[in-house]
Amino acid sequence: MGDGDFDLADAYAVETPDDNRNLYARWADSYESGFIKENAYRYHLGVAGALLASVTPSDGPVLDVGCGTGLVGEALRLDHRCPSPLDGLDLSPEMLEQAGTKSTASGEAVYSSLHVGDLTAVLPLVGNSYGAVVSCGTFTHGHVGPDAFDELYRIARPGALFAIGINPDHFTAHGFEARFANDVAAGTIIEPTIHRVVTYGAGPNVDQTSPVAVFRLR
Ligand SMILES: C[S@@+](CC[C@H](N)C(=O)[O-])C[C@H]1O[C@@H](n2cnc3c(N)ncnc32)[C@H](O)[C@@H]1O
Repeated sequence: MGDGDFDLADAYAVETPDDNRNLYARWADSYESGFIKENAYRYHLGVAGALLASVTPSDGPVLDVGCGTGLVGEALRLDHRCPSPLDGLDLSPEMLEQAGTKSTASGEAVYSSLHVGDLTAVLPLVGNSYGAVVSCGTFTHGHVGPDAFDELYRIARPGALFAIGINPDHFTAHGFEARFANDVAAGTIIEPTIHRVVTYGAGPNVDQTSPVAVFRLR
């Protein structure tokens, strides 16, 4: 396989943050022209739509975690309901470099700040700083599990809105559903609404829908 030939099997084969760093370092240049285009990726539109349906102007700043090349940010910034500023965080400096090239129709950068950070570790962000957290394609095979919410709750303000896309095979099997149920019972979050969004418009997984958990921190 040469660079530029990556697909879902490669993404699902990763096991550790280092695997992720290595894969996305090589994939960043061709991620959108290859995988996203070939599969008519639509997941980011559904996740952005789920956030926008519940967001208020006072929910900024927004943090896109596992922002990759910036597809969620682009979708959000097309809509006047997106609060500002919008920041991005990702493990891969190469994916962030792509996100940093994105601009709105009026020529502003899509993301105000981009942070290198590992969602399986302590995030390099100050507590209580974000009013909304969004994520697409990052809570999946070999990427990030439900323990990441400890840090995401820390960096979010009380009342912050979350819209988090989760791989459909992992939602129950890898403990996300149980994590949210525990967090509701503990009084940490309000009961999530689970949206189902179309992931791809073409390719082998065209029938897949993915859960997006939308909830607020108490
Ligand atoms: C499938 S891509 C999705 C990117 C973008 N959100 C989208 O929808 O196109 C997954 C992203 O998660 C990032 N990622 C994987 N593991 C991570 C971790 N432990 N911490 C932060 N980001 C991670 C990868 O670098 C990659 O950019």
